[in-house]
Amino acid sequence: MTMNDWITVCAQTELLPGEHRVVDLDGTPVAVFNLDGEYFAIHDVCSHDGAPIADGRVEGGEIICPRHGARFCLKSGRVTQPPAYEDIAVFPLRLQEGLVQVRDDRWD
Ligand code: FES
Repeated sequence: MTMNDWITVCAQTELLPGEHRVVDLDGTPVAVFNLDGEYFAIHDVCSHDGAPIADGRVEGGEIICPRHGARFCLKSGRVTQPPAYEDIAVFPLRLQEGLVQVRDDRWD
């Protein structure tokens, strides 16, 4: 497989509203969220100190890093609260034949 292939996260029925999953996207941990039927995929690495953030609390479309409380918009990856100052990557996500799929477009 090449770097730019879509990879399957899980069946759509396995990722219910309020749930998330972390997948390995060719060496990159990606956290995939279902937020009330809207799906988001973000790099599962906080830009402050490298902690995984998938288990952080989600509030108002933002994820809060469990480590020191930085916040990021799930849709854009934009940082909205220190101590992080850099955005994190977001990834394209599609629903295909009942599957949730993501791909890495950073090197397209
Ligand atoms: S590692 Fe996320 S806020 Fe510090």
